[in-house]
Amino acid sequence: MQFYLLGYPLGHSMSPFLHQAFLSQAKLEGHYELKEISPKTFSEEVTRLKEMGCDGFNITIPYKVDILPFLDRVDSEAEAIGAVNTVVVEDDKWIGYNTDGRGYVTSLKYHFPALFTAESRFLVLGAGGASRGIVHALNNEICDAITVCNRTVEKADALLESLSGSKQLAGISYEEAEKTLDMYDCIINTTSVGMEPHTRNQAISLKHLSKDTVVSDIVYKPFHTTLLQDAKKRGAQIHHGHEMLVYQAALAFKLWTGFTVDVRPVIQAFEEKLIK
Ligand code: ATR
Repeated sequence: MQFYLLGYPLGHSMSPFLHQAFLSQAKLEGHYELKEISPKTFSEEVTRLKEMGCDGFNITIPYKVDILPFLDRVDSEAEAIGAVNTVVVEDDKWIGYNTDGRGYVTSLKYHFPALFTAESRFLVLGAGGASRGIVHALNNEICDAITVCNRTVEKADALLESLSGSKQLAGISYEEAEKTLDMYDCIINTTSVGMEPHTRNQAISLKHLSKDTVVSDIVYKPFHTTLLQDAKKRGAQIHHGHEMLVYQAALAFKLWTGFTVDVRPVIQAFEEKLIK
């Protein structure tokens, strides 16, 4: 089987490592290769891939939206999110999915199942592409409220407008979020603040954090972000976002092969690589 990751730049992507582990777990022969495509040749390269054929591919930054015109069909979740990270090839037809948000929520739920109740309140920091996937996935779960905090509150409001259902939804400023932080059961950083090389940065002040709140960060380089260290010091529980990458990959692999991956040993091997 032949799979690819399309993106630019791809640098030290961990996806080949993850998918190679899945292939051997599934006892399938195959390859997962990086296809770094410069923006100038994106259209040409994608057309060539369609002619060449493959069993499926992932798309990452900056092409999760640009791929849409090349697809024959987009699944409803990806359509609502407005971006695709996984393409399934079925009878030469390309079908787009988005497994990012669901991947993230599956990990959070695995570690903190008690977060998903009719009373729980989530605070999501950031309103970009990563936030969009996560907020849509949270909206499909049991919870009371989803609040999105962004420097430009209008962007948070626009994201929330695309959601349907009966949850309490609100866009707020960082100032307001910091003042009311103890209201939330879970705070999720979806911004890149704190990522290498700016590891000292922290998206939000945790001065008013409650010990009962779970703090989650999708930044996983460094593994122990300043935000997570601060939350831990204050006695809160923490969730490392690197598992999002593993779960989104496992969900993509399931779409391509039908095989359900046991993610735990793969996560462990991934952590050893990240922490060493
Ligand atoms: P991604 O796909 O990683 O989510 P993106 O779509 O460019 O990337 O979105 C980046 C998000 O991080 C945005 O919500 C951005 O906030 P603004 O809309 O206000 O720009 C947020 N972000 C980036 N740098 C930030 C910073 N220094 N402080 C707070 N938020 C930041």
